[in-house]
Amino acid sequence: MMSSSATAPEATATGTCTCVVGLQWGDEAKGKLVDPLAEDHDIVVRYNGGANAGHTIVRGGRSFKLSLLPSGVLNPRLTSLIGNGVVIYPPRFIEEVSQLREAGIPVGTNLLLSDRAHVVFPYHMEEERLSETDGGGAIGTTGRGIGPCYQDKVGRTCGIRVGDLLVPEYLRDRLRMIVPRKNRWIEALAAGKEAKKFDADALAQEYLGYGEALRPHVHDTAHFLRKSLQHGKRILFEAAQGSLLDIDHGTYPYVTSSNSSPAGIWSGSGLPARRLTRVLGVVKAYTTRVGRGPFPTELTDGPDGLGEAIRRKGREYGTVTGRPRRVGWLDLVALRYAAEVGGVDELAVTLLDVLSCVPEIAICTAYEVQGERVQEFPADARLLEQAKPVLERLSGWYGEELTQVRRIAELPAAARRYVDRIAEELRRPVRIISVGPDREQTILP
Ligand code: IMP
Repeated sequence: MMSSSATAPEATATGTCTCVVGLQWGDEAKGKLVDPLAEDHDIVVRYNGGANAGHTIVRGGRSFKLSLLPSGVLNPRLTSLIGNGVVIYPPRFIEEVSQLREAGIPVGTNLLLSDRAHVVFPYHMEEERLSETDGGGAIGTTGRGIGPCYQDKVGRTCGIRVGDLLVPEYLRDRLRMIVPRKNRWIEALAAGKEAKKFDADALAQEYLGYGEALRPHVHDTAHFLRKSLQHGKRILFEAAQGSLLDIDHGTYPYVTSSNSSPAGIWSGSGLPARRLTRVLGVVKAYTTRVGRGPFPTELTDGPDGLGEAIRRKGREYGTVTGRPRRVGWLDLVALRYAAEVGGVDELAVTLLDVLSCVPEIAICTAYEVQGERVQEFPADARLLEQAKPVLERLSGWYGEELTQVRRIAELPAAARRYVDRIAEELRRPVRIISVGPDREQTILP
């Protein structure tokens, strides 16, 4: 019989790993929740996406807009970490760091950046611009070069990682091989239209400069995370985008290019999958979507309709692009699916206050697809395009402002019923309700 006195290294791990993840198509106000939750943690980690994310955090009446840095960076006591699964546009990283410093928030070695994270170059944005304007096939992306950068990562021949920006000879040689290929590809995509051309040595010079600015932050973050967990640290993972935009589990092809559900944590941070202790799923009280793709509960009732009223009251305009977000009713079919995919333990309901602006509320409990009632979220975006929502009308709390409410008992009965219904349908408890953008505007039932 085999036996061993050695303890498996993971068995000594005593820290905790919590993930905050959006269960819709992004913009569920995760940043607002991560900010206070971070206080009970030691490390806040971003593991997916890039400067396509938009986190608005309102603190003491001041609003901070972050697209690349983790929300935890507002709290200098914490270590904020950008994992290997994120794609980095260095000018944006540098800009966000300087904005915070100008606001008096210290940012130094409390911000760590993975040496394995891939780097976004201007040719990625040009590739994206051309493929998004090339007639059919547009996704409605944020134009931040995210898809082409991940393509290069997976394709391997043209990927460049943060660590490479610190090795001048290597970076120059690599760009001398990559840039002529990119120029040929861009010319082919442009098909006679005007397009940018890039110079390898000029790009190398520019990015070596960025490398020096990033150097104090660059780290083997995966190793750091594993060690931290063994030393009992409490780690908070902050997903970017929403689960329905996940490259594998979302509404493909109208998704982003990373795993925005908790599925991305292991590959995007280097922490073993078995270590996750808690997943908090964030549900906006209605649904929004930016960009193209199926949206069964979308409200398309025009400039005087309920959709527009919700958009205005909820300030539903993209943080990154300023685009008006598409707005619709809560979709329980999609939410049940996202909660299962993400292994969600408990829920936060956000922007509940916004629904005070509509005289009636509906929720979608099932779809009608090709004459059949469907409870499961279809994998095929074409089927989802045809799905008609089965709507249940609920009484609302029209005109009753919720922004001052701090206790569940003070909520109008209809609002309480609405939250209870979400918990019942998703078979998970609601732990947090948000009734306004400021961190004070939160109910902890
Ligand atoms: P990409 O991530 O820029 O490639 O865009 C792919 C899709 O994801 C588009 O529909 C975008 O509008 C959407 N998307 C990307 N980031 C966000 C986000 O932070 N919130 C909401 N939608 C997003």
